[in-house]
Parts: sequence; C-alpha cells; structure tokens
Amino acid sequence: METMLTRLRFSFFLVFVFTFYDLSSSFSPIDNYLVNSGASLDSTVDNRRFISDSSDSSNSHHLSSPETFSLCAGTLLPGLPQIYHTARVFKAPSKYVFDVKDPGMHMVRLHFHQFSSSKLNLRDSQFHVLVNGLVALTNFSGGNLVGPKVREYLLCVHSEKLEITFVPAERSKFAFVNAIEVISAPQDLILETAQSVNGDKVKPFEGLNQQAFEVVHRVTVGGAKVTPFNDTLWRTWVPDDDYMKSTEGSTRVYFAGRIKYQTHGASREVGPDNVYNSARLIQSKNASIPNVNLTWEFPVMEGYKYLVRMHFCDIASISLGLLFFNVYVNGHLAYKDFDPSAVTNYLLASPIYADFVIDADHSGFVSVSVGPSSKSMAYAVDAILNGVEIMKMNNSVGSLDGELPAESVLKCWPRRSAGILLPLIALVCLLLSLSAIIHRRNTNKVDSVPWSKLPVDVPEVSPKQGKQQLSSRV
Ligand SMILES: *[C@@H]1O[C@H](CO)[C@@H](O)[C@H](O)[C@H]1NC(C)=O
Ligand SMILES: *[C@@H]1O[C@H](CO)[C@@H](O)[C@H](O)[C@H]1NC(C)=O
Ligand SMILES: *[C@@H]1O[C@H](CO)[C@@H](O)[C@H](O)[C@H]1NC(C)=O
Ligand SMILES: *[C@@H]1O[C@H](CO)[C@@H](O)[C@H](O)[C@H]1NC(C)=O
Ligand SMILES: *[C@@H]1O[C@H](CO)[C@@H](O)[C@H](O)[C@H]1NC(C)=O
Repeated sequence: METMLTRLRFSFFLVFVFTFYDLSSSFSPIDNYLVNSGASLDSTVDNRRFISDSSDSSNSHHLSSPETFSLCAGTLLPGLPQIYHTARVFKAPSKYVFDVKDPGMHMVRLHFHQFSSSKLNLRDSQFHVLVNGLVALTNFSGGNLVGPKVREYLLCVHSEKLEITFVPAERSKFAFVNAIEVISAPQDLILETAQSVNGDKVKPFEGLNQQAFEVVHRVTVGGAKVTPFNDTLWRTWVPDDDYMKSTEGSTRVYFAGRIKYQTHGASREVGPDNVYNSARLIQSKNASIPNVNLTWEFPVMEGYKYLVRMHFCDIASISLGLLFFNVYVNGHLAYKDFDPSAVTNYLLASPIYADFVIDADHSGFVSVSVGPSSKSMAYAVDAILNGVEIMKMNNSVGSLDGELPAESVLKCWPRRSAGILLPLIALVCLLLSLSAIIHRRNTNKVDSVPWSKLPVDVPEVSPKQGKQQLSSRV
C-alpha cells in the first residue's frame, strides 16, 4: 500500500519548485480557424469571428466538395447565434482542409443545429465524419438533435494539414455542418501519463497525449454554467446537478478570492477561474465526520476507454493541512488520503487536477466519488470537488464511433462510376485505339509518337488515396 501511495503521489503532477503564473497573459493559439459554414457573411460570436466558407478568397481553410450548397433557416430563432441559422450541405464526400502551423494537440469543434427550409430538412441527414485518420462520427443524423450541439474532439496532429471529411451514409442522404473550430491546444492540456484504474489496481497509463478524445461531459461542480465567453479555451462547462447521484450531505461553496495558478498545477487553460471558484464539499460541523460520499454518474458507451479528469481547488478550508479525502472512480479507490495541501506545495486556492483512465463497462456510466478518509478531521472540510471532464478515447481501429476504421468508412460511399461508367470508358478507349491501329495500317505511315497508355483501373483505396480522390473530383 505504501509503495502504491508513493508512486501515486509522484505521478500527481507534483513538483516542488512552484512559481506563480503570469496572470495577465492569455492563451493565443497559433492555429485558430473558425468557419461559418454555408453563410455568405462572417459572423461574430462572443468576440470571435467565424469566417464564411462561401468566398474562394478565404486563406484560412480550403473547402473541396463536388456537390454542395448553402442552406439558410427559414425562421430565425431569437437568441440563437447567427452561425446556427446557416448550414453547408454535402451530397457527396467533401472536406475542409486547414493548414497546421503548430503541430501537436488540436481541438476540433463541430457545431450542428438542425432546421428546415423550403429546400431541405436537416433532420433527414445521415453521415460520417473523419478528422485526419480518425473516425469521429458514424451514421450521425440531424434528426436526433434537440437544439444546437457542439461535438468536441482533441487529437494530435503530426501532418501539415488537418482534414475534416464529411461522407453521406448513402446516395439518398446528405451531410451538413453549421460551424467548425480548429484550434491548437496548449501543450499542457493533455500530459503523457495518467493513472489507469482497473479494479483495485492503479497503474500508470503511458502515451496519453498520443490518443484522440471526444469530450463527452464537462461539468463545473457547485457553480453556474461557464460559457465559451468566460473560458480560456472557449469551452462550455455545465452545472453538475443532473449528474449527482444524491445531494445528501453536500454543501456548495463559492470563493470570491483569487485562484492561485502555479506551474505544475492546473493552468488557467486547464480550467478557468469560474470552474475553480465553486465546488461541492462534505463538511463536518461537529465532532463527528459524516459517513457519506459525494457521487456523480456520467453516461458513457461500453467498449471504450475514458479519460476521467477531476479538478480540485481547496477554496473552503480555513487553514492548510486540514483536508484529507479519498477519491473513487467507478467505486474503486483511485487515490487514498488525498492531501491537496501537499500537492499544491502548501497553498490554499491553488488548482490541481488528476487524470484517470477507465474502461467503460456494461453499466453504461462512469462514476466518480469523493468521501472522507481515515485521516479526515472533525470540524473541517472532509472532501471537495470543483469540476469533472469525461473524455472518450479512440479504440484500437482509430475510431470514436464504431468498429470501422477510416478506410472502411470512406469505402461506404458507393462510387458512381465504378459500376457502369468505368467499363464503358474502357470499351470506348479500346474501340478508339483499334480504329487508330486500323487507320494507321491503312495509311501505312510510321508513327513516331509512342502509344499513350490506356487509363488504368481505379487503384485500391487507402484512406489517403481515398481523400485525394475526393478532392480531385472537384
Ligand atoms: C462571465 O462570468 C461572469 C462572472 O462569473 C458572469 O457575471 C457573466 O454573466 C459571465 N458571462 C457569460 C457570457 O457567461
Ligand atoms: C453532527 O451533526 C449532524 C448533522 O449536521 C448530526 O446528524 C449528528 O448527529 C451530529 N453529531 C453529533 C455527535 O453531534
Ligand atoms: C464511499 O464509496 C466507496 C466506494 O464505492 C465505498 O467503499 C465506501 O463504503 C463509501 N462510503 C460511504 C460512507 O458510503
Ligand atoms: C488510439 O489510436 C492510436 C493510434 O492512432 C493507438 O495507438 C491507440 O492504441 C488507440 N487507443 C486505444 C485506447 O486503443
Ligand atoms: C451505418 O448504419 C448501417 C445500418 O445500421 C450499418 O450497416 C453501417 O455499417 C453503419 N455505417 C458505419 C460507418 O458505421
């Protein structure tokens, strides 16, 4: 137990040379592409300018699509940002290509909002989305959407381009998107190592920053919703109420002081002030320590691994060294006698986070709990949690949505020409060359021009070739 504990402590991003952050500098990503799909004009949301994808002069991204059109909502809903009033519709595989100036982790957000116009109802869409070699969505349909929905992905980009490919599920279907964000992530957003929790075994999970993720839940505990306007990376954090198993024994706390970000703790990009300045806690107000846990449950999909990120910031203790608690993931003890003071190098209101990797089981949810430990003290805070993020990890075929790799998803699109057109072209070519031979023999001339090759058959599709072919169709 002691050795496990020591190891855990060390992996808890714990470094004793703490320095304060320069609080004034805000994050400015090198790659920062915001696309207003299907709109003829740019649109500004929370001081961020989404560039229309209709003009050819756009130097921020390149759209290649053989069959596309813009769609505009018939009725404008008040209060809904303009980006959700237009959509770009794809009738055939199409892609947006972005230049990557800053290789490494990138955030990709796809905005979907279904509406209908006289021309089309976005409910009837059904499509797949690939991001570089990653399968992000399969058989996605606008029909399941209630209000605007943002799908957020994190993936490591090693290439000079980032490509987002939309593939209609069948010829009668179509794909759409309302807006796209492609933003380079800060280097410290995903670290190399997390703790893998498997039954009662806790061991390091390496290579975390080489995985791809879909953020499925992002929750601020005890506080109000945090909107992109108030978040350092333009994220949304929803209140935790709907995820709490029971609020029994829990107290909300709000902190009006300064959140003290430190290097090697959580940075302001990992979580903004608005997440760390609220929390829920277990508190003993008399001589007995409450015998309860605080538990949150998050719906997940069986068959995937999930990264569970728990955010802590002791904004409630009156003094250092009074808060000790246990952290459980899926009911397994993931961190025993956790002492935030030690991890923050003895500073209150200093944020930290812990990353755990867990396999989603048949229960259909991942749970996180905090509760008193044997070291918890009376008349003190006995557990705290400020935020939780649950991120789905790609499976072994490089997919976040199903068992098909990108290559197979691309092949789902039936090629129009493959059936009749190719043999027909081959036949015509053959006839032409035959007639040429006959013609040449007749004229009995020696031709110095070498034979030009007949067009060869379409090569085997690899994901890359498939994509190139898409663009060459334009
Ligand atoms: C941003 O945060 C401040 C303070 O927490 C809050 O008053 C304000 O309403 C928030 N703004 C938005 C757009 O969420
Ligand atoms: C301490 O307070 C709780 C309620 O806050 C109460 O249920 C419990 O009986 C109290 N214990 C003692 C020893 O007074
Ligand atoms: C808290 O949760 C852990 C793990 O599920 C469990 O072992 C422990 O008994 C719980 N404590 C209480 C007071 O329910
Ligand atoms: C995710 O994909 C990468 C390759 O892109 C692979 O190395 C890794 O094992 C995959 N993750 C999981 C959990 O299978
Ligand atoms: C989409 O759904 C159909 C019918 O359920 C299935 O046959 C097909 O494999 C799915 N496509 C992908 C890419 O998962």
